[in-house]
Formats: sequence, structure tokens, C-alpha cells
Amino acid sequence: MHIDRYERYWLMAVVATLGAFFAALVATLVVFGVSLPSPAGRVNPQNLAASEFAEPSVRNIGGNRYEAHIVAKMWQFDAGPEAGSPPTIRVPAGSEVTFYVTSKDILHGFQIQFHTVNMEVVPGQVSQATVKFGRPGVYEIVCNQYCGAGHAVMYGQVIVQ
Ligand code: CUA
Repeated sequence: MHIDRYERYWLMAVVATLGAFFAALVATLVVFGVSLPSPAGRVNPQNLAASEFAEPSVRNIGGNRYEAHIVAKMWQFDAGPEAGSPPTIRVPAGSEVTFYVTSKDILHGFQIQFHTVNMEVVPGQVSQATVKFGRPGVYEIVCNQYCGAGHAVMYGQVIVQ
């Protein structure tokens, strides 16, 4: 079969590009450890009382590390009585907070302003993210998945002191 010279160059360029993309994909996985988000655990949304989400809370687990269990529901985030409603989570600057978030009813979102956490909160699944709060400030927590009439008032705050 005769392949024109320029046609051949183009074919080679396509193969090289695909090869580069594949190499980049492998590198993100192997070198940088980037992978698709997957649920950190499963719970029965109809029976959260029997799970680690029975009593939502934010607690210190030693040093500057915190653990937050938060239940998203129409239309609020429940981070326990201490945090109030809408929740205000107070941590000192330099804290590292691991958030465990689940939903009691439908799909919600969990995003914290200026920080690298933006999770889907799915009933039955536990979404987990660890966030370092370096700078003092007030950061909004928002639900960024449209979840009905009260979506706009589904928020909270992290206050880094
Ligand atoms: Cu919950 Cu939007």
C-alpha cells in the first residue's frame, strides 16, 4: 500500500501525540499519585445513627489535627451542636482538618472557599478530604450541587484563628 510522505508524517505525529498523552496519564498515576475520587466508605443513609455519623462533630485528634464528621441534608450541613446551624467550624491557623461528609437524603456538594476541597456528597457514600488551613480568615463552606428550594441557604463557615 502506498502512503504519501506527508500522510506518513501526520500518522507519525498522531501516534507520537497519543504516546505522549498515554505517558502523561501513567506519570500522573505513578509519579503524582493522582486518581479518580472514590468513596472513602459506605454508610446506610436511612440509618446514620448506626454509623460514625450518629453524632456529627468536629474534634481535635491531637496536635493541630482535626476530624470533622458532617451530615449534609436538605438544606443544611450538620457538624454537631457545638458548631451550630449553619455550622461554624473554628480551628487555629496551621490546622489540618480531615472532613468526612455524607448525605442523608439526596446529592449535595461540599466546597470550601480558597481551599482544595470540592466534593460530591452522595447518600450512602462517605466523601473524605484533608485540608490544611494555613492562613487565618473566614472561609465559606457551600453546597455546590443544586439540591432544591433551600440550596442557596445551605452553607457554613470555617473560621481559622
Ligand atoms: Cu445541598 Cu445544594
